[in-house]
Amino acid sequence: MMNTKARLEICRIPQNQKPPLIKHNQSLWFYVLVLITFVTTLFILLHTRFPLQTPPSWHWQSSIFQTYGLNPNMVNKLRDSVTFFPLKDLRYSNAALHGHTWFMSSLYDTHQDGEVQYQQFPSKSSQGRVLCLKGHDNHDGSWNYYALAWPEALPYNATFMKGLTFVSYNHYDYGNLFHGLTSMIPFVAWHKMNNCSIMPSRWVLYHWGELRFNMGLWLGSLMEATFDGPLNIERFYDEENGPVCFEEDVVMRHNEGGMSRQRRMEVFDLMRCKARMYCNAEINDRGVFPVIGMTLLLRTGARSFKNETVVADMFLKECAKVQGCRFMVAHSNNLTFCEQVKLMSSTDILISPHGAQLTNMFLMERNSSVMEFFPKGWLKLAGVGQYVYRSIASWAGMKHDEGSWRDPIGDHCPYSEDDRRCMSIYKGGRIGHNDVGN
Ligand SMILES: *[C@@H]1O[C@H](CO)[C@@H](O)[C@H](O)[C@H]1NC(C)=O
Ligand SMILES: *[C@@H]1O[C@H](CO)[C@@H](O)[C@H](O)[C@H]1NC(C)=O
Ligand SMILES: *[C@@H]1O[C@H](CO)[C@@H](O)[C@H](O)[C@H]1NC(C)=O
Ligand SMILES: *[C@@H]1O[C@H](CO)[C@@H](O)[C@H](O)[C@H]1NC(C)=O
Ligand SMILES: *[C@@H]1O[C@H](CO)[C@@H](O)[C@H](O)[C@H]1NC(C)=O
Repeated sequence: MMNTKARLEICRIPQNQKPPLIKHNQSLWFYVLVLITFVTTLFILLHTRFPLQTPPSWHWQSSIFQTYGLNPNMVNKLRDSVTFFPLKDLRYSNAALHGHTWFMSSLYDTHQDGEVQYQQFPSKSSQGRVLCLKGHDNHDGSWNYYALAWPEALPYNATFMKGLTFVSYNHYDYGNLFHGLTSMIPFVAWHKMNNCSIMPSRWVLYHWGELRFNMGLWLGSLMEATFDGPLNIERFYDEENGPVCFEEDVVMRHNEGGMSRQRRMEVFDLMRCKARMYCNAEINDRGVFPVIGMTLLLRTGARSFKNETVVADMFLKECAKVQGCRFMVAHSNNLTFCEQVKLMSSTDILISPHGAQLTNMFLMERNSSVMEFFPKGWLKLAGVGQYVYRSIASWAGMKHDEGSWRDPIGDHCPYSEDDRRCMSIYKGGRIGHNDVGN
């Protein structure tokens, strides 16, 4: 049951924070590197000309002097040495999501136990270098490129984009609520790690290294709410020919992977809170008496209930048996983002067929319950995909245990029930209502 304190939850700034965005003296790194290059070259030169002699000191002084004056020759050499690699590395197509993945495969993520995995530029591990992209192809990710460069020696004709850029890798798509949301989790986690202090100036969305221009309305609204403003999704319109380099940049390619359950719950807490503020759903006055909200969230087409009226009547009766229970029925397809947020804010028990609309569950108060309905055949044949909403429930602190109900009756499949070929028949199945109430 709901307590008012939880209802009045505000978007707290997290305690026990880790250190903020690492600020580096980029120019110092740069000077050090140029210096090392100079010294090495000089050393080799001296060895050739005066074998094993102590170099005259004025040589050293003059070289240091020149370095601090940023020898244009050397800068040009550094610019020339910026090397672009394909964003999607086909050598790793059979391990696309593992380790360094096939996306920017030469670079490794920063990862501390239980925390989000991310790459940040410029950073210590990039030796102060920033990320540059030549990446506007939207058909083949191996035609898009990335490179690291020192800000003082950006590649020729580069456009320098100020502010913070979020670069996202999504293995599925930005339209589906579940797949979209999981690819956003690491950005929210990183944001929280930095005390929500820096807002992204732009987003660069990739799928398999291919540039994408949109995310779904629901996901876009959620991110707008979380990051306090409209999203600027980069299209690289004016930069078709030259590379683009980013002042500050964070790359995510592992979704929620590596994060502890605690961290995941914190991310969902933040998104829930921000979404409610954005939609003015925060002040949800349930009155003096405790009210239990029971919501039947319906979908159309595949995995819809065959007879919605009968199912609704059944739950209405169940609800009527409990004091303070308020029953609501809604179709997910005709609710705006904010209508979904508001509905979930007043829901404690969510009843819905397996499907993307269930992603909304994290917008309920923590510890709320989920009942998920599957058509016939799904238990044996649908594979791990059927557990995704159980995962969200766990990450967002909802109760899904014993919350699955599977229809024993379904379309006829000519093979044995365990045969994989049946899945294509069951996949689009609808859900009956016998014993739904039990
Ligand atoms: C985040 O907040 C904590 C606790 O208030 C503070 O110690 C830390 O310095 C803050 N970090 C940033 C990036 O502001
Ligand atoms: C930079 O752009 C100019 C004009 O588009 C072009 O002529 C030149 O070759 C480019 N330089 C490099 C190094 O790509
Ligand atoms: C749903 O079931 C009720 C009661 O059995 C029946 O009256 C109604 O016609 C059914 N509706 C549909 C759309 O099948
Ligand atoms: C919502 O969608 C369902 C199914 O598409 C439809 O039957 C219902 O009339 C719609 N409700 C409203 C209020 O538009
Ligand atoms: C959720 O339930 C757990 C365990 O029953 C409890 O410790 C926690 O305080 C609850 N959280 C909220 C927000 O009610």
